[in-house]
Amino acid sequence: MASPPTFTADIYIYISLSLHRAPEAHGAGWSKIWDAGKSDLWDRGQASPALVDIVEKHQRPGELFHPFAADGRRKRVLVPGCGRGYDVVMLALHGFDAYGLDISATGVAAAEAFASKELQNPSAANFGPNHDNKEFQSPGNVKFLEGNFFASEWENEAGGEFDLVYDYTFLCALHPTMRKNWAARMASLLDKDGLLTCLEFPMYKDRTLPGPPWGLNGALERRATDMLSVYQRK
Ligand SMILES: C[S@@+](CC[C@H](N)C(=O)[O-])C[C@H]1O[C@@H](n2cnc3c(N)ncnc32)[C@H](O)[C@@H]1O
Repeated sequence: MASPPTFTADIYIYISLSLHRAPEAHGAGWSKIWDAGKSDLWDRGQASPALVDIVEKHQRPGELFHPFAADGRRKRVLVPGCGRGYDVVMLALHGFDAYGLDISATGVAAAEAFASKELQNPSAANFGPNHDNKEFQSPGNVKFLEGNFFASEWENEAGGEFDLVYDYTFLCALHPTMRKNWAARMASLLDKDGLLTCLEFPMYKDRTLPGPPWGLNGALERRATDMLSVYQRK
C-alpha cells in the first residue's frame, strides 16, 4: 500500500504559492509548480487505497457507492484538484461518470495522458480484494476540465450537479481562509442527495503552522454548518 504523502518540499510549495499572492490567487502558484515539473512533490502515482476500499465495500444497489442512480443513469462524480487523475480513472473503472478538475493546464494534460493509457490497461492499484462484482465492470466516462474550483466557468462543460465529490489533498492545498468558500462551493456543486467524501490529510499538523499542506484536524466539522446553510437554500 502506498504511504501517505509527506510533502517533503512543502517550503518550496509555500514559497511558490505565497510570494506576492493573496490566497484567492494561489491557483497561479499551483500552475507554476506544475509547469516547473514539480508535481512529484505530492504525486503518489496511484489511486487512493482508502477510496478503493470504501467504494468496493459499498457498491451494491442501494449502497452509498453504487454507481447507478434509481433511474438507471450513471452517477456523476467530481474530483476537484485532481492532479494526474488517478482517483478519477479509478472511479470510472468502478462505474461512475467521472470528472476531474484542475486549475493547471499542464496538470490536465498529464491527467488526460494518464487516463488514455490506464483505461486501456488498468493497473492492479485500481482494484481491491472486494472487486468481485462483474455488474460494475463496465467503466463510466472520464472527462478532465481545466478550471478554478471557486469560479463557475467550467460548470457548463461539466453538465450539472454531482452525486459524489471526492476531495483528497485538495482542501489541505487551500489557504485556511478559503475553507468557508470551499464548503459553500461543495454544497452548491453537489446534488441535494449528493455525497461529499473527503480523505483528510494532514490530521497531525498544528493548524497554526504554514502550508500547504495546511493542517486539517477538525476543519470539516467546523465547515459543516457552512455547507448546511447552502443546502437549505436549494
Ligand atoms: C496537492 S495537489 C493534489 C493532487 C491530487 N489530488 C493528488 O492526490 O495527486 C493539489 C492540486 O489542486 C490543484 N488546485 C489548486 N488550487 C486549485 C483550484 N482553485 N481549482 C482547481 N484546482 C486547484 C493543483 O493544481 C494541484 O493539482
